[in-house]
Amino acid sequence: MALMGTVIMAFLLHSTPSILKDTEVAGDVFDVCVTCHPNATCDLKTDGSGGYACNCMYGFVGNGRTHCEDKDECQIGANFICGDHTACHNTHGSYYCTCLSGYAPTNNMPVFIPNDGSYCQDIDECQVQGVCGEGGLCRNTDGNFECECQIGYHVKGGTVPFHPHRGKAFCEAVDCGPPPSVPHAVQVSVPNTSYRSVITYGCQTGFLWQRGDNSSLCTSEGNWTGPSLICEEVDCGEPPAFPHSSFIWKHQTRNTRMGAEVLYECEVGFHHVGPASITVCTAGGLWSHPSLQCEARCGHVPELAHADLVWDNESIAIHRCADGYYAHSGLTVSTCGVDGSWQAATLQCREIRYGIRQLEVFNERCLRWLSDGKKEDYRVIFVGSRDYQKPFVDKRREAFSSQHLRPHVCLKLLPATNYTINITAVLARSSTVITTNTTIPAAPVPEVMFRDVEGPLPYLWVHRSHHTLDPICLYEVFVLPVEGTLVFDCNSPKSPHFLKDSSCHGEYVAAQIQVRDVGNVLNFTVGDEQHYGEFYNAPLENGRDYYIILRTTCRWGQSSKHSCVLWAKARGTSYRMRMSALVVCGTISFFGFAVLIGYFFTGYFKN
Ligand SMILES: *[C@@H]1O[C@H](CO)[C@@H](O)[C@H](O)[C@H]1NC(C)=O
Ligand SMILES: *[C@@H]1O[C@H](CO)[C@@H](O)[C@H](O)[C@H]1NC(C)=O
Ligand SMILES: *[C@@H]1O[C@H](CO)[C@@H](O)[C@H](O)[C@H]1NC(C)=O
Ligand SMILES: *[C@@H]1O[C@H](CO)[C@@H](O)[C@H](O)[C@H]1NC(C)=O
Ligand SMILES: *[C@@H]1O[C@H](CO)[C@@H](O)[C@H](O)[C@H]1NC(C)=O
Ligand SMILES: *[C@@H]1O[C@H](CO)[C@@H](O)[C@H](O)[C@H]1NC(C)=O
Ligand SMILES: *[C@@H]1O[C@H](CO)[C@@H](O)[C@H](O)[C@H]1NC(C)=O
Ligand SMILES: *[C@@H]1O[C@H](CO)[C@@H](O)[C@H](O)[C@H]1NC(C)=O
Ligand SMILES: *[C@@H]1O[C@H](CO)[C@@H](O)[C@H](O)[C@H]1NC(C)=O
Repeated sequence: MALMGTVIMAFLLHSTPSILKDTEVAGDVFDVCVTCHPNATCDLKTDGSGGYACNCMYGFVGNGRTHCEDKDECQIGANFICGDHTACHNTHGSYYCTCLSGYAPTNNMPVFIPNDGSYCQDIDECQVQGVCGEGGLCRNTDGNFECECQIGYHVKGGTVPFHPHRGKAFCEAVDCGPPPSVPHAVQVSVPNTSYRSVITYGCQTGFLWQRGDNSSLCTSEGNWTGPSLICEEVDCGEPPAFPHSSFIWKHQTRNTRMGAEVLYECEVGFHHVGPASITVCTAGGLWSHPSLQCEARCGHVPELAHADLVWDNESIAIHRCADGYYAHSGLTVSTCGVDGSWQAATLQCREIRYGIRQLEVFNERCLRWLSDGKKEDYRVIFVGSRDYQKPFVDKRREAFSSQHLRPHVCLKLLPATNYTINITAVLARSSTVITTNTTIPAAPVPEVMFRDVEGPLPYLWVHRSHHTLDPICLYEVFVLPVEGTLVFDCNSPKSPHFLKDSSCHGEYVAAQIQVRDVGNVLNFTVGDEQHYGEFYNAPLENGRDYYIILRTTCRWGQSSKHSCVLWAKARGTSYRMRMSALVVCGTISFFGFAVLIGYFFTGYFKN
C-alpha cells in the first residue's frame, strides 16, 4: 500500500507543478512550504513573484517536496573526487576520503577531504626495523614493500622476493653444515659452520702436508670451498748408514713410518762414541740424531821420548814431559784415528837447562860462570866502544862448547875500551849480558934527546907521533933540583899535586899541557914565566942544577898510566927568589915507595 501511494505521489509531482501553482493562483491559500521535503528548505523565489519554493538542501538533489535524494560526491570527477590510492566515503549530504593500504594522508589524519590539498602518499614500510625479519633485506615499492635475503642468508618457505605478511617465506642464516673431511687431516680450528667461517686443517700425526690449501671457507651459498691440502704418510726412508756400523730394526717393525726405531751397532773392532745409537723416524719424516761414530780400537798408546802418559781412554791419550824435561813444542794429545792407528802426539820434550848463572868478569878480559855441568854450546858477542874515540867500535863474536860446571873464557879485548858482552847458552836458550872495560895500556913515550943546557931560558923540544890515547893524555914538566937524595916515582898517582904542595927541595911542576893540543913537536922553554894549565913555569934559580923530566899521563875512568923521560939537565942563571924556597921541609924522601931516579930511568928506558 505504501509503495503504491509513493508511486502515485511521484506521478503527481512530475506532472502537476503548474497545476499546484494554478491552484494557488485560483485563490485557495496554499502554503507550499508545508509541502517541502524534510531535507529541503523553503526559499523565497528569485523570480520576484513573491512566492516560495522548496529547494533540496546542499548535498541533496530532488524536487524539494516529494524527494530530496542524497547527492553521491564520490562519483564526481573523471578520477573521482578523492584522488589516487584513496577510498571515497559518501555520507548523507557529504563525503570523506581515506587512503588505501600502503598509503597515508598527507594531513597525518585518518581521513581527509582533498579540498585542503591533502592527498595520499606511499608509506616507506622499510623504515620499520626488522620488517623483513632476521637476515631480511627490505625493498619499498609504491604502496607496498618486498623482502629479499642478505648475503649469508637464504630464503626458506618460499621464494624471493617475498612479503612477510603473506606466505611463510623468511630468511634463514646460511649454515654450511659439517665441514668437508680430508683424508689423514684433522680440523685444528673451532668448528663454526656459519657464513664466512674458516676451518683450518692439519695433517694427522704420522702424515705430512704435501701441497694444497689447508683451510676451508663457508660460502654465502652454504657450501664449503676447499680445503685442497693433501697429507701423505710420513716416510723416513732408509735409515742413514754410518761407517763401520750396521743397524737392526727394533720391535720387528721394519718399516720406514713414523715411530719406527733403528738400533745401530759398531762393527767388531770398533766402538761407539757419542750419545746416540738409536734413531727414530720422527713426525717430520727425518731420522732423529742421525749421527753415529764408530771408532777403531787403537790398542797401546804410543810412547813419547822423555814423556809420561797422564791419562787415556780408548780414543784419546794425554802426555806430559817427564821430570827434568820441559815441553818445547808440539801437541800433548794422541788420538786414535778411524783407521785404528794412533795419531801420536807431537810433543817434544827438552831437558831443562839452567843456562848461565853467576856470570862475572875476572882479569878484565875473562868471563866465568856456573853452568848445569852438561855439554853446552856458547855464543859470545862482544861490542867495545870508547867514549874518547867516537867512531871506534869493536864488534866480534866467538863460539865454543864446554861441559864444565864452571866454564871460563878469555876474550881478546882491546885496551881502554868499554865492552858489552852477551853470552848465550844455546841449548839452554839463555843469554846474559855483562859489561867490562879494559885498562889503558902504557902511556905513549915521546921521542926526546937528552940535553945538558945552561942559560937563563933553556930551550927544549920533543918529537911525538899521534896516538889514539892522545885525547886522554897530558904532558907534565917536572923540575927537580939536583941536591941530596933525589927520588922520583913516575907512577905516583898523586903527582903532580904532591910535589906542588910539598916542594921542600924546590922541586915543582912547571907545566901541564894537553897532548891533543900538541902537534908533532913540542917546543918548551924552561922558566919562561908563563902559566901552563894551572902551573907556573918559574925561572930556574941561579947556580942550581935541575933535572927536567917530561911525564906523559894517560887517564881513563879509574885507571891511569904514566911514562917519564929525562928531558934535560939544566943549570939555573936567574937571580930571582922563589917563594917555595922558604918552605921548611920535614923529610927528604917524600914517596912511600921511592925509586932512585937513576934506577928508575934505567928501568924505564928498557921499556
Ligand atoms: C533527511 O536527511 C536526513 C539526513 O540528512 C535523513 O536522515 C532523513 O531520513 C531524510 N528525510 C527524509 C524524509 O527523507
Ligand atoms: C660462528 O661465527 C659467527 C660469525 O663469525 C659468530 O657470530 C658465531 O658466534 C660463531 N659461532 C660459534 C659457535 O662460534
Ligand atoms: C696451513 O698451510 C700453511 C702454508 O700453506 C702453513 O704455514 C700453516 O702452518 C698450515 N696450517 C696448519 C694448521 O697446518
Ligand atoms: C656451492 O653452491 C652453489 C649453488 O648451489 C654452486 O653453484 C657452487 O658451485 C657450489 N660451490 C662449491 C664449491 O660446491
Ligand atoms: C775418551 O775421552 C774423550 C774426551 O773426553 C771423549 O770424547 C771420548 O768419547 C772418550 N772415548 C771413550 C771410548 O770413552
Ligand atoms: C862504560 O860502559 C858503562 C856501561 O855501559 C858506562 O856506565 C860507562 O860510563 C862507560 N865508561 C866509559 C869510559 O865509556
Ligand atoms: C844476546 O844475544 C842473544 C842471541 O843473539 C839475543 O837473543 C839477545 O837478545 C841478546 N841480549 C841482549 C841483551 O842484547
Ligand atoms: C919549535 O922550534 C923549532 C925550532 O926553533 C921551530 O922550527 C918550530 O916551528 C917550533 N914548533 C912550534 C910548534 O912552535
Ligand atoms: C870500568 O868498569 C867499572 C865497573 O863497571 C867502573 O867502576 C870503572 O869506572 C870503569 N872504568 C872505566 C875506565 O870505564
